[in-house]
Amino acid sequence: MAAELVAALDRHSRARGYRNRSAALADMVREALVQREWETGRGEVVGTITIVYDHETRELLDVLTDLQHHFLGAIICSTHVHLDERNCLEVIVARGRAEELKRIADRLIATRGVKHGQLACTTTGRRLA
Ligand code: NI
Repeated sequence: MAAELVAALDRHSRARGYRNRSAALADMVREALVQREWETGRGEVVGTITIVYDHETRELLDVLTDLQHHFLGAIICSTHVHLDERNCLEVIVARGRAEELKRIADRLIATRGVKHGQLACTTTGRRLA
């Protein structure tokens, strides 16, 4: 590896609080492997969908119920937090095929009243060392 790259890796490793550069490198490899799990679409992945929405818009609850019926088994649970008088945060945990989870996230994020939404792509961990 080029000396400049090693120096950059060491800076990154220290900034993130890793014990050493190989621990930082191992996490980068795991990150790439998880991305690949999502890209190849083979096997089961896990994801969380976080949305912030205006609770005056009732549409979201209907969409959430529809999705739970349509993607039976994929949506494991959801947690609701009242952020203030109007704004709510919902975290939805889902498990299934990558394509399925992306569709669930897209549908939720595109729902009227949703101000921000994000899909965090992670893994069941079974195929990671
Ligand atoms: Ni609320």
